[in-house]
Amino acid sequence: MATSTARIFSLPTAELHLHIEGTLEPDLVFELAERNGVALPFESVEALRERYHFTSLQSFLDLYYDCMAVLRTREDFRTLGERYLDRAYEQGVRHAEIFFDAQAHATRGVDPEDVLDGLLDALGSGTQRGITGGLILSFLRDRPVPEALQTLESLAHRAGDLLGVGLDSAEVGYPPRLFTPVFARAKELGLRLVAHAGEEGPASYVREALDLLGAERIDHGIRSLEDPGLIERLRRERIPLTVCPFSNVKLAVIPRLAEHPILDLLDHGIVATVNSDDPAYFGGYLADNMAGLADAFPALDGALERLARNSVDASFASGERKAELHALIDEWASRA
Ligand code: HPA
Ligand code: ZN
Repeated sequence: MATSTARIFSLPTAELHLHIEGTLEPDLVFELAERNGVALPFESVEALRERYHFTSLQSFLDLYYDCMAVLRTREDFRTLGERYLDRAYEQGVRHAEIFFDAQAHATRGVDPEDVLDGLLDALGSGTQRGITGGLILSFLRDRPVPEALQTLESLAHRAGDLLGVGLDSAEVGYPPRLFTPVFARAKELGLRLVAHAGEEGPASYVREALDLLGAERIDHGIRSLEDPGLIERLRRERIPLTVCPFSNVKLAVIPRLAEHPILDLLDHGIVATVNSDDPAYFGGYLADNMAGLADAFPALDGALERLARNSVDASFASGERKAELHALIDEWASRA
């Protein structure tokens, strides 16, 4: 029998691919615009929602950067983070490793420390509710490399408050190798390393992210399937892929959910996980993605527990926290 939506929503998971700016729901865009006196290029929540039709990663990024202009203060980032954690909790998320685009905010004059502090405030209140997590400073690959280095240096004294660094924004034409010195410095600071690769870009970008950046986890990575040698390596070395099904369909990386390769990845023995990427824009949070996949693929029912366990294994949570999360999944499985 197909797993009910309620049961999918109660599956304990770790979210590993989530851009906090991508959780900016239309009503919050308008609330913060009013709070901060920011003029918006759309008249209403409905008019904004009408722009939620994307043809590529870039067509989404244009709107994503427009909307995040309402985020100005530490308090704004706290509000944003808390609303995400509330929604994530309702969807079973018990650990969240969250990307933030400090560089995009710095270009608007927002101090990266205000961004960091607001998000840490939110994570602090999340911990009280039973969600642990951390923050990943993500570099914008379509902006100059020296700017990324400067952003990293501006937060170097706060390295202890960061979990790691990542690489996002427009992929094609901005190969990982450009960011080799930035990731080398992040490693020196003791930070964990992840990178978006193989979303719109080729499998060779995934190889570069591993070989030149030292990425421990690949965000998206689905185009790795075009390179059998790479897939074999990801399996053998247990390098996780943080896969985002709704995102892939919304950004036209995959024509429709029924053609999504999530089960192929699992069949190849890859540590694949399901994540929401930019849930306010792509139609749902983590369990919504799982429920969508379960609708599209009857065989997903048998893979739900595996996906949840993969998310825990692929996380940077402590060994103790991982054991707690696996125990929550044990409990879920025993209630079947
Ligand atoms: N890909 C690359 N950059 C991003 C994304 C994404 O899906 N979301 C926010 N920044
Ligand atoms: Zn992403």
